[in-house]
Amino acid sequence: MVKILNVVGARPNFMKMAPIIAALDRRPNEVSQSLAHTGQHYDEAMSAVFFGDLGIPEPDIHLETRSGTPTRQMARMMTAFEEVLIARQPDWVVVVGDVNSTIACALVASKLNVRVAHVEAGLRSFDREMPEEINRVLTDQIADLLLTPSADADANLLREGLPIERIVRVGNVMIDTLFQQIERARSSTILDELELRRGEFAALTLHRPSNVDDPKSLSRICSAVGEIARQLPVIFPAHPRTQARMREFGVDAPAGVRVIAPLGYLDFLQLWSNARMALTDSGGLQEETTALGVPCLTLRENTERPITIEQGTNRLVGSDPARIIGAAREILSGVVPYAGRAPELWDGHAADRIVDTLIARAGGSYKSSEPCAAFAASPSRKN
Ligand code: UD1
Repeated sequence: MVKILNVVGARPNFMKMAPIIAALDRRPNEVSQSLAHTGQHYDEAMSAVFFGDLGIPEPDIHLETRSGTPTRQMARMMTAFEEVLIARQPDWVVVVGDVNSTIACALVASKLNVRVAHVEAGLRSFDREMPEEINRVLTDQIADLLLTPSADADANLLREGLPIERIVRVGNVMIDTLFQQIERARSSTILDELELRRGEFAALTLHRPSNVDDPKSLSRICSAVGEIARQLPVIFPAHPRTQARMREFGVDAPAGVRVIAPLGYLDFLQLWSNARMALTDSGGLQEETTALGVPCLTLRENTERPITIEQGTNRLVGSDPARIIGAAREILSGVVPYAGRAPELWDGHAADRIVDTLIARAGGSYKSSEPCAAFAASPSRKN
């Protein structure tokens, strides 16, 4: 029996972990699993609603770390997670994505010689000013198993000197969730509630520090979006960070832009999949729009998901109003210069491939010593 401890912490983790938990549940004779929630995101709207929407079981472990500076929050996570690992002694810790919880828990596991599997390994924006880029690079360096979504991710890892034996391309697990939930999302009433019709509005998300923590770039983006909103309404489910910054900087939403609270998974899926276009700085939405063929304008200068541009519906437009407005006008006039096909292995079965790999490699030779038990004998053995 392979013992697996899954970790989630922030909103973009939940849709990646849900299909892995379900796939592990289908193998009860081979694996046992538990789930730890670090509490990085804690609001009903940022966390709890996703457990209901995605059928994720109540976490076995709550680390309750909540707000604070990222460093304080991560320090609390790490201290609490160390106790959990010592008590539970899993064969694998599974972390997903690139949030602060991902690196915090991966690092603790590494210190205790517990094997770490990183789902969504190898993505790189090559922008070290993004906190998530640092989280990606460091998590991949210490993970024992690098489960990648696409060939570009494999190439990034090899370029960083990671051994090929650690890399397994499994595809995009978030697309598993998308395909599993799309029918249920169709019964969401969000379009009626907001009085919207398919194809007659745009969906906006914005929360990156580089966009929202700087009053100038926040104002520039808002003015561009305001211009687009003259042609079609823009619906903006706003992240708590963004709402706080808009209040702090006195930046008002322009006419035609409707700011609403963050949505759950099903309502949000129903919203963006019916939109004429998505405007976003999120990583996940770039992939999801590619999978369903919805035009996406990414309000960043770089992306860690270049495949969504090469093969999908994504286009980088940065925060320059002229570029944003120009690209939106092209979409509105029917010029959509996108290839628009789903990349290989974005097929709804990534989680099964992940579970196969975890089982096959549980007894592998990545660690020179036994997990956890070694810690009890010598806590400072691995510095
Ligand atoms: C985090 C992730 C980012 C991800 C995003 C999606 C990191 C480094 N970043 O950014 O990759 O795309 O989540 O949502 O991990 N807050 C609340 N309620 C909550 C959660 C947060 O009010 O439930 C507040 C926090 O107190 C903080 C702000 O929102 O003031 C930002 O939260 P934080 O977890 O630091 O990072 P995100 O910006 O959400």
